[in-house]
Amino acid sequence: MPSARRAPQLKGVPTAGMVRLVAETPYTREDGYARRYRDIRFTTGSGAGTDRRERAALAALLAAAARRGLSVAGPWLDAPSGAGRMSGALPGLVVQADRDPAMVAAAGPGRPRACASVHALPFGDGAFAGVLCHRLLQHIPGADERRAILAELARVSRGIVVVSFFDALSLQSLRRALRRWTGKTRSGRSAVRRGAFLAECRVAGLEPVAVRALRRFVGEQTLVLCVRAAR
Ligand SMILES: C[S@@+](CC[C@H](N)C(=O)[O-])C[C@H]1O[C@@H](n2cnc3c(N)ncnc32)[C@H](O)[C@@H]1O
Repeated sequence: MPSARRAPQLKGVPTAGMVRLVAETPYTREDGYARRYRDIRFTTGSGAGTDRRERAALAALLAAAARRGLSVAGPWLDAPSGAGRMSGALPGLVVQADRDPAMVAAAGPGRPRACASVHALPFGDGAFAGVLCHRLLQHIPGADERRAILAELARVSRGIVVVSFFDALSLQSLRRALRRWTGKTRSGRSAVRRGAFLAECRVAGLEPVAVRALRRFVGEQTLVLCVRAAR
């Protein structure tokens, strides 16, 4: 279980104002997972429909951003990119970043790639017009860690951050909670209520301006368009 803890007390070093240290949640998968994620997960069964709805939700939020006068033209950061499934749905130059070297390799050579954690992105402040963080935060059970990630995404964006989360107020989430309670699943995915998640965004310096659920109250997957607070 990840834990947020206070910065260690260093003898003679003032610690007032030090940031909290947050342990990164692991994301361990079996050999060959990255290639299966790229080739099978979203092309077969219900995955194909999910992929279609996720792309439609992202396109709707990019259109909403453009209507608000936000510059969507790029460059964009796709983090975590996984095998790069959503990168092609972003406008302009897209840089991919993922902590898993197998995912970075599976993404292929078409775009600039970095093997890096979303906790410490190797890019300067405001390096990107927009940042997409898709299908990560449902794997992060702690609010402290989610807020730390959101703050790092905000740091490297000049304006837009699009982020997905799993909404606890949905049949899918209720079903998983029941399956976990009856011992039928050990799924590590976590859902959070929409209001609570939007509050986490605000604490991290991101103002949510539009929300798009794939299937409100039925499915969990929800995308949020945020605008970074002025520096
Ligand atoms: C479910 S995949 C999503 C990939 C892609 N965004 C998509 O929608 O298809 C989650 C990805 O998060 C990556 N990941 C997990 N923790 C991470 C972290 N702290 N920093 C960067 N990548 C991370 C994993 O390696 C994995 O590729």
